[in-house]
Amino acid sequence: MLINQWTMNSNNWCLYQGFWCTYLFLKSVISFQTHFRAFDSDVFIVAFPKSGTTWLKALTFSTLYRHRFAKDEHEHEHEHPLLNFTPHQLVRFLELDIYLNNPCPDLESVCIYKPRVFATHIPYASLFTSIKDSHCKIVYLCRNPMDVLISIWRFTDKLVLGYWNASRENPDKILFLKYEDLKEDIVSQLKHLAVFLGVSFTEEEEKQGLIEEIAKICSFEKLQELEVNKKDLFVTGIPHKEFFRKGEVGDWSNYLTPAMVERLEKLMQEELGKEKWEI
Ligand code: A3P
Repeated sequence: MLINQWTMNSNNWCLYQGFWCTYLFLKSVISFQTHFRAFDSDVFIVAFPKSGTTWLKALTFSTLYRHRFAKDEHEHEHEHPLLNFTPHQLVRFLELDIYLNNPCPDLESVCIYKPRVFATHIPYASLFTSIKDSHCKIVYLCRNPMDVLISIWRFTDKLVLGYWNASRENPDKILFLKYEDLKEDIVSQLKHLAVFLGVSFTEEEEKQGLIEEIAKICSFEKLQELEVNKKDLFVTGIPHKEFFRKGEVGDWSNYLTPAMVERLEKLMQEELGKEKWEI
C-alpha cells in the first residue's frame, strides 16, 4: 500500500525553488521550512539520494555519541544502537520522515540523544534561514554522479554546488565529504569528521582502536548483515534492505557502455566543472 502510494506520487515531480521534488514530499518540505527552528548545537547530514547517506548517518551517530556506548565505570558494555536500529531510525530525515505526515512534530521526542542530528536531501539554497544563520554544523557527502542513480544524476549540480560553494565560504560550519574518500581512508576521514563536530578523538581513544571500531560497526558489510536492516520498511515504504546494495566505488562500469561514460563525463564536466569534482 505504502509502496504504491510512494511510486504513484513519485511520478509527479515539480520544480520547487530550483530543485525537483515529488508532490508527496513538497508538503513536508514546506512544513519543515516553515516550522523548523535550528539550535546552535544541531548537526545536519546532507547528501543527494544514493550518495551514501545511510553510511554517513551511522558514522556521525557513532562518532558523536560514542561515550554513551563505551564501557561504564563498572566495565559494563552498552549495546550499540546500530545493532538493533537502522541508521534511518537513529538519524531521521526531516522532509522524508519527521515532517512527512506531521507539520508540527515534537522534535524533543524525536531526538532522544543530544546534540540533535537530522538528515535532509534539500539543496543548500532551500535550507531554512534559521539553519543558515545559526551556529549549527552541516556535513555534506557527495559521490561520483556515475555511481549515483543515473536517472536523477542530471539534478546533482543544483544540490552539490550549493553546498560546495557554501563549505568553501564557511568551512567551520559545513564539512564537504566525498563517498570515494570515505571508502579509501575511513580512519582519516572519521578523525576529520570528529574534529569538525567538536568531538575530536583523544590520543587514548586512538590507541584503544576506537576509530577502527566505529568504522567497523558502520561498515557496509556489518550493517548489511544485521537483521534490523534486512526487515521492515522505511517510512516511505521502501524496504530498509534497499539502502544496502553493493557499497562499491565504480560499480557504474558494470552498467554503462563506453559511449555512455564519454557522454556522462562530458556532461559532468560541463555541469560540475572537472576541477570542482577533483578537489
Ligand atoms: P550502491 O547502490 O552503489 O551499492 P543512500 O544511503 O544515500 O541511499 O546511498 C545508498 C548507497 O550507499 C548504496 O550504494 C549502498 O549500498 C551504499 N551504502 C549503504 N551503506 C553503506 C556503508 N555502510 N558503507 C558503504 N556504502 C554503503
